[in-house]
Amino acid sequence: MKYARIVGTGSYLPVNVVSNDELSRRVDTSDEWIRSRTGIRQRHIAEPAQTSSDLAYQASLQALAAAGIAATDLDLIIVATSTPDFIFPSTACLLQAKLGAKRCPAFDVQAVCSGFVYGLDIADKYIRSGMYRRVLVVGAEVFSRILDWNDRGTCVLFGDGAGAVVLAADDKPGLLASVLHADGSQFGILSTPGQVCGGKVTGDPFLRMDGQAVFKLAVRVLDEVARETLALCNLQPADVDWLIPHQANVRILDATAKRLGIATDKVIVTVDRHANTSAASVPLALDVAVRDGRIKPGHKVLLEGVGGGFTWGAALVEM
Ligand code: UT7
Repeated sequence: MKYARIVGTGSYLPVNVVSNDELSRRVDTSDEWIRSRTGIRQRHIAEPAQTSSDLAYQASLQALAAAGIAATDLDLIIVATSTPDFIFPSTACLLQAKLGAKRCPAFDVQAVCSGFVYGLDIADKYIRSGMYRRVLVVGAEVFSRILDWNDRGTCVLFGDGAGAVVLAADDKPGLLASVLHADGSQFGILSTPGQVCGGKVTGDPFLRMDGQAVFKLAVRVLDEVARETLALCNLQPADVDWLIPHQANVRILDATAKRLGIATDKVIVTVDRHANTSAASVPLALDVAVRDGRIKPGHKVLLEGVGGGFTWGAALVEM
């Protein structure tokens, strides 16, 4: 069993859709500003009672159905999230209980918007080592809970959602290469620097960001890590059928594609409809393009994450 192959994808978006016009009634912004600076038209926002594990559950059911695998057959569950249901237990354990996948190990990965790519990389190592055969990797977020809805610089950018994949051990090519990086010295440009201490929230519990610094770093590292990952397979950007960068801003997606020399019609874009769903953005976009028939078996898809930490990474997948 040489490869970890994606054998099923799924996703879930909360039903409540919030338009840019609705946000412009809450903060000093406009549909024109949000569209022209980010490409975002709308975002989905979870109901107050909906948690990351609820969203993850719906996405996982779809991925398991697509894979034809029962939850009870899973060997491992990994959930990438920065908006867990609780401090503990992990969202992955709560998801395991909802799925009825008894006894398999389950844990969360905290790498913010790179979390799904981090999760894929970990799952790949377990499968290639021969230890596990079927792994569920989920990105699930309710970023609406950590947004300062009075800060127009951040609240217009994010949305809620979940995406999931089932990976299985296979002789056919699957995850061809993956590369992860982090630079903790850049923690200050994107963070939610609060904590619970002595029964109270201390520090700042809202997402704070230096947008321009994040933008510049994101464009540079998405280019670098794409090339690094392709080089491990002796491939060029031209060999990629589809590019799925983290869906933060359409200008970041365009700049990344341009630097790599990849045509924009080979880039999967969902940020216009989903906004930035952090760890959920890459598996959500993957599932959308698998289900609408653009991504086909045999296609090479380059998945890229970048976000708080600072963290970044890429995974080249043959579907
Ligand atoms: O997962 C990774 C997380 N984040 C990202 O990837 C985000 C990366 N950064 C970005 O996408 C962009 O930097 C933003 C979309 C956040 C901002 O775009 P920008 O072109 O860098 O705008 P800016 O921050 O330079 O702001 C330009 C102006 C400012 O006004 P002044 O100082 O020129 O008068 C802002 O106050 O736009 C103002 N502004 C807004 N105006 C209307 C900031 N937010 C808004 C808003 N509506 N929502």
